[in-house]
Amino acid sequence: MRFVATDFCLYQCEVSRRMCACAWRLHVFTAALVLAAHLIKVLSCGEAGGGPRLTKRYVGLYTGPYFDPSAPNNITTQLGTHAYLPCKVRQLSNKSVSWIRRRDAHILTVDRFTFIADERFQAFLVEATDTWTLQVKYVQARDAGVYECQVGTEPKMSHFVQLNVVVPKIEIVGESDLYVKAGTTVSLKCVITQALEEPAYIFWYHNDERVLNYDKSLVEIRMERVAPDTTVGNLIIYSPRREDSGNYSCSPSNLDSASVMLHVLSGEQPAAMQHGNGAGAARAWPAGAGASAALAAGALAPPRARTVLRLLLLLALALLYPVLCHDEDDGK
Ligand SMILES: *[C@@H]1O[C@H](CO)[C@@H](O)[C@H](O)[C@H]1NC(C)=O
Ligand SMILES: *[C@@H]1O[C@H](CO)[C@@H](O)[C@H](O)[C@H]1NC(C)=O
Ligand SMILES: *[C@@H]1O[C@H](CO)[C@@H](O)[C@H](O)[C@H]1NC(C)=O
Repeated sequence: MRFVATDFCLYQCEVSRRMCACAWRLHVFTAALVLAAHLIKVLSCGEAGGGPRLTKRYVGLYTGPYFDPSAPNNITTQLGTHAYLPCKVRQLSNKSVSWIRRRDAHILTVDRFTFIADERFQAFLVEATDTWTLQVKYVQARDAGVYECQVGTEPKMSHFVQLNVVVPKIEIVGESDLYVKAGTTVSLKCVITQALEEPAYIFWYHNDERVLNYDKSLVEIRMERVAPDTTVGNLIIYSPRREDSGNYSCSPSNLDSASVMLHVLSGEQPAAMQHGNGAGAARAWPAGAGASAALAAGALAPPRARTVLRLLLLLALALLYPVLCHDEDDGK
């Protein structure tokens, strides 16, 4: 006769009716244990992406982790875009992977965790390709340099990746002050060179208000890629009036802006009197305060839409996460 706790309880149960509660308590205890185990599994799913990582035994040329030489180690990125530095480690097993910035020996990430107070840095694993990738968002010029991918073996193994940052140039062709007679068509040319990525759009601003080409007989906006690394934006103002004077700036989606001062001279007055044409420059463009308010709102829309999208994505992830973890549990 096995004499485990349950049997003991049942035995006692027969001996004395008062002890029957003992068996019932054991069942509750077991149920609670199962529930706790399940909870721990679900919670750890969020941290490590599924159960504990196991150590495997490897046979072949390498018995432990090794860097796959096929991954690129010289990455070139454009200022303001996202850079992805790959670290392809085969047979990683349960070893941790850290990214370290050579410049100041700062530890950026260890596995999925970021150890720098700069949210632009993040590391993630693509299991299908055994690649731990360091993502650097909105790359700045000072991010250029060498990054070290370190595997937590004994002794440690290191792989170095060079990050180059290219800074495109932007300018409006011609002098910084442009004088034209009223009624004479003006063409402003904004040239972007040394760009790896073509801007998605180029916005033009007149005294900080978006210029839109509602009426193509008044104003026209064009954009053209003239060479692999060169884009030209064009703003054409047909029949400019004095109130069209002011600061015009060309602002591509992914770069700083360039600007020019336009002075529209009415025929009768001498050029000297047109300097500091405050009243004209302050007027809304192309027409009316209502239109200018609408333009300002339009200029604000893209970042706001992005924030909403990001929130929606987070919400979707939050909803999906438990479902995904449960699926994994069900499969086991
Ligand atoms: C990896 O697994 C081995 C063997 O199970 C264990 O000794 C070691 O502590 C583990 N290392 C990490 C970083 O979890
Ligand atoms: C890395 O790439 C950049 C840009 O393509 C190039 O100028 C540089 O010479 C390369 N460096 C090495 C070490 O290959
Ligand atoms: C024109 O506007 C741009 C963008 O607001 C600004 O950076 C620049 O300094 C202005 N130029 C002048 C001459 O006011």
